[in-house]
Amino acid sequence: MPGVRGPSEYSKEPPRHPSLKINAKAPFNAEPPRSALASSYITPVDMFYKRNHGPIPVVDDIEKYHVSIHGLVESPKQLSMAEIRKLPKYNVTATLQCAGNRRTAMSKTRTVKGVGWDIAAVGNATWGGAKLSDVLELVGICKLTAATQLGGKHVEFISVDMCKEESGGPYKASIPLSQATNPEADVLLAYEMNGEILNRDHGYPLRVVVPGVIGARSVKWLDSISVNAKECQDYKMFPPTVNWDNIDWSTRRPQMDFPVQCAICSLEDVAVVKERRITISGYAVSGGGRGIERVDISVDGGKTWMEASKYQKSGMQYIADDLNSDKWAWVLFKAEVDIPDNAEIIAKALHFKLHENLSQLAWIDTKVFETPINVESTGFLGIFLVLQQVDSAANVQPENVEVIWNLRGILNTSWHRIRVLNASQVALSNL
Ligand code: MTE
Repeated sequence: MPGVRGPSEYSKEPPRHPSLKINAKAPFNAEPPRSALASSYITPVDMFYKRNHGPIPVVDDIEKYHVSIHGLVESPKQLSMAEIRKLPKYNVTATLQCAGNRRTAMSKTRTVKGVGWDIAAVGNATWGGAKLSDVLELVGICKLTAATQLGGKHVEFISVDMCKEESGGPYKASIPLSQATNPEADVLLAYEMNGEILNRDHGYPLRVVVPGVIGARSVKWLDSISVNAKECQDYKMFPPTVNWDNIDWSTRRPQMDFPVQCAICSLEDVAVVKERRITISGYAVSGGGRGIERVDISVDGGKTWMEASKYQKSGMQYIADDLNSDKWAWVLFKAEVDIPDNAEIIAKALHFKLHENLSQLAWIDTKVFETPINVESTGFLGIFLVLQQVDSAANVQPENVEVIWNLRGILNTSWHRIRVLNASQVALSNL
């Protein structure tokens, strides 16, 4: 592609912050330390996780760079950076989360395929750019269109990076046309991150940002957009019974929204706590623009729960679904707790809107089955455990990782558990 190219080796990688935890060197995959992650609502660019499938592309000549839009559209077009910048600019604060976030914890149950991530393959940034719905109007696709006259129903984003997993081909991913043409979905072609020009690691000169959807669809170093009849086959969530011998990719739809997620950032998974009273902090986020209704903390392995305080911007109360809250963004939480001996600390979040039918069913089923699950605090967790059922956005936080284990190790949204060792245990383990 003119202007931008994807190198085949790693000699032109950009400089990175030394405190990032590197999970794979080439391609470069790294996340910030837990403690850094929850220290600010907006994640600084150098502390934002970096998820790559190949060497970072190089921009040789920004004047020559353009995005071509083609496929099942009436009037294909090439757009330069100047033309994209001429469109109305929007700033959208949105959390990007890799589908593989917390994969390392899932792999402890059974082996999974993919880069190992702790809890920080997630970050919150303010993205600046043009709305995809405005861009698509330039090729004759009106707002709120679900299918073009030529039968296009999916919008595929294609990059220039050379990826091993794509047999040396470029990285690509798609979203439904109905989402791409919906101005309220806030899908951006972004050229800024936190008020600065995008840096190379995060997609310079132009990337897609699909708020509320797994990070895989936010394609970096955008080369072209193709309007297709079929969706791009990738990131799919399979049940625990599926393995590499019996997998049938055609049985699942690609994952879009990420499910409700919550993690404690102030402690490692096995922690030694000296004080009796400590402050626990972390993040909670849900896909699809669903706000966070509650974050609950337990210090006794889930027997009793207390509610954590939640916040986004300082000095402003966070209320899920309020006009002043950033609907695509995470909320940070804090709770002061007294730590008993041999504590197991758990954090779990409840997102704002339950799928109406499922939430109703959950109440009916949990009453019928009389499960020991605390339905009041877990929303429709009851139905998940009783019927092993998830909705299209997998909107539950399951109690244990085993029930959502999948061979790709994606969407580990199980309750985040911290084991607290008391002083005598630490002394013993040091013997
Ligand atoms: N786009 C391209 N071209 N190549 C990639 O490897 N990785 C995807 C997505 N877009 C990827 C990409 C994945 S899996 C994630 S989670 C996000 O980018 C990560 O974006 P970040 O590195 O800016 O945090």
